[in-house]
Amino acid sequence: MKEKVSKALNAQVDRELQAEHIYLAMSLWFEREALSGFAGWLRAQAAEERTHAFRILRHLEDRNARVELGGLDKPPADYDSPLACMQAALEHEKKVTGHIDDLYELARSEGDHAAEVMLQWFVTEQVEEEKTFTQLVEQLQRVGESAAGLLVLDRQQGERGGEGR
Ligand SMILES: [Fe+2]
Ligand SMILES: [Fe+2]
Repeated sequence: MKEKVSKALNAQVDRELQAEHIYLAMSLWFEREALSGFAGWLRAQAAEERTHAFRILRHLEDRNARVELGGLDKPPADYDSPLACMQAALEHEKKVTGHIDDLYELARSEGDHAAEVMLQWFVTEQVEEEKTFTQLVEQLQRVGESAAGLLVLDRQQGERGGEGR
């Protein structure tokens, strides 16, 4: 495996772990706001990001490439509103999509077919991730200042995947 590709994939391992860290911090904030549905769902999202990191990590190991972890940045602890929080999450996912696209491009230009195939899963996954967060942002926008609406959304999120807790 070319060092150029393995280094770029290493950076993505860190980014997925950073996403885990960010979603966990968001989940802590929602829990403090007494919105346990969102909190649990974000915890499940955080756990999912960890599986993404391991997917790439294992690929590097399988191909005898070096894996070295970088450091994590401190994620924001507070948000102005559930909407602001989900908007930040969506922006983060868009950034990740950009990185995945760049990695895919690199794998192709370096002729690394194995990395290309591995990354295909991530290309599809990012479509799903952006869709999920976009929907949530739109629903929160629709709910606006309605506390009742927010509680309905919170319950809905809890039903979607509370097992992350
Ligand atoms: Fe991810
Ligand atoms: Fe994600």
